Amino acid sequence: MERSKHKQQKKEEYDNPFAPPEIDDLAKSVFLTLFPKFFGENTELSKMKRITSIVEMGCVQTTCAIIDALLQDHLPVIKKMMEDEQQKLTYEAFFCFAGMWGIGGAFEGASDSNAELKQFIQTWKVQNANLKAKIPDTGSPFDHYFDPEEGKWVEWKRKVVEYEPSAEGEEVMFSKIFIPTVQTVRLNYLVTQHVKRKRTVLFVGSAGTGKTAVIRGFLRTCQPEKVVHATVNFNSFTDSANLQKSIETKVEKKVGKTYGLPSNKILAFFIDDLNMPYVDKYGTQTPIQLMRQVIDYGVFFDRDHLEEKKFIEDLLFVSCMNPKAGSFSVDTRLQRQFSIFSFGTPDSAILKSVYRQILAGHLVMNVDKNWHGMVSLTASSKPTSKHSRGLSMNLNSRLPLRSSTINSISENCRR
Ligand SMILES: Nc1ncnc2c1ncn2[C@@H]1O[C@H](COP(=O)(O)OP(=O)(O)OP(=O)(O)O)[C@@H](O)[C@H]1O
Ligand SMILES: [Mg+2]
Repeated sequence: MERSKHKQQKKEEYDNPFAPPEIDDLAKSVFLTLFPKFFGENTELSKMKRITSIVEMGCVQTTCAIIDALLQDHLPVIKKMMEDEQQKLTYEAFFCFAGMWGIGGAFEGASDSNAELKQFIQTWKVQNANLKAKIPDTGSPFDHYFDPEEGKWVEWKRKVVEYEPSAEGEEVMFSKIFIPTVQTVRLNYLVTQHVKRKRTVLFVGSAGTGKTAVIRGFLRTCQPEKVVHATVNFNSFTDSANLQKSIETKVEKKVGKTYGLPSNKILAFFIDDLNMPYVDKYGTQTPIQLMRQVIDYGVFFDRDHLEEKKFIEDLLFVSCMNPKAGSFSVDTRLQRQFSIFSFGTPDSAILKSVYRQILAGHLVMNVDKNWHGMVSLTASSKPTSKHSRGLSMNLNSRLPLRSSTINSISENCRR
């Protein structure tokens, strides 16, 4: 009896890898206490101005999706290794982290330069002051995540790896260079967690903040046996027929009128510049309405036989948009389906670090090959690869530059 129950459970897990993780009474009691406290007592938080319009239920859904993903990742370790008190602390921290992004992820601006974001951070800190899993007071709570194995909050900075030019010495096209920063690392993490839970994500930010670069980077690192991806750039000529065709070329017939991907794979469909399609005289954007229909009902109509429906499975949209371009925002009935995260303009410290790493990488790659002595790469601060170590000694001996010039280049690179 027990065995057949287990078999059935395994089968269900196989059939639906996106089923919510099984949580016990302890976890339930923590979440049931915290949800009304953080959401119920703070209804004004979800009404504050965001980078684009969001709905309250969207905040709750985003929070749940992040909690589910965290539990899916860590539940086995939590249950096996932790005492009840430690488990409670971990669940509290998961809730704080997920709620912070669920409610506060769509505030405009990267730091607390935005008054509303500042207010949110203050309220959030006051609210979790009595919890055992208190978010650190230093800096912004968004700069931290909770590591259940260490049992404490850790700075995202730790996960940012220094850019290293290709070890083989191959030239990399400038547009392909991507320098990880705190912002890109944490948003990459959030999109990964959402795709795992099969929830749609929308990054919203000004031009050139790196939205497309982060999603492209994420798609490149997806495991092909789990996630298949495709990209469509929306523009003012994109209509629902174009979009439907693009999706139909990526899915295959599963059974009857159902289309999707084989063996539980997900089709991550990256829609760039979501708000660019033309707004017609009825105030609608046809591709946006098609997306809404697919997310809400999972169906297309066969364009040659309109009485026929095609059921679409395994499809997940991941999107970006610039709120100052195109139609600015899109139909709220679609927007509410997304977990929305704001993509702030990087501050000057981040920009300097990005430029420094690109310049250092370029010098490491090219100086030795093409120029006979120019810059001492002691300037690139820490040597990042075997190239830079050799290069520094190599160039010092051949360098015709005055020491003041070298010092100034060094100084600029280091900044
Ligand atoms: N962290 C980074 N490291 C290196 N290059 C970056 C980084 N972030 C952005 N870039 C570069 O900046 C440029 C703009 O980035 P991207 O196209 O991703 O911006 P976007 O937010 O999608 O802008 P838009 O709203 O105009 O589409 C690209 O050339 C990209 O390679
Ligand atoms: Mg873009």
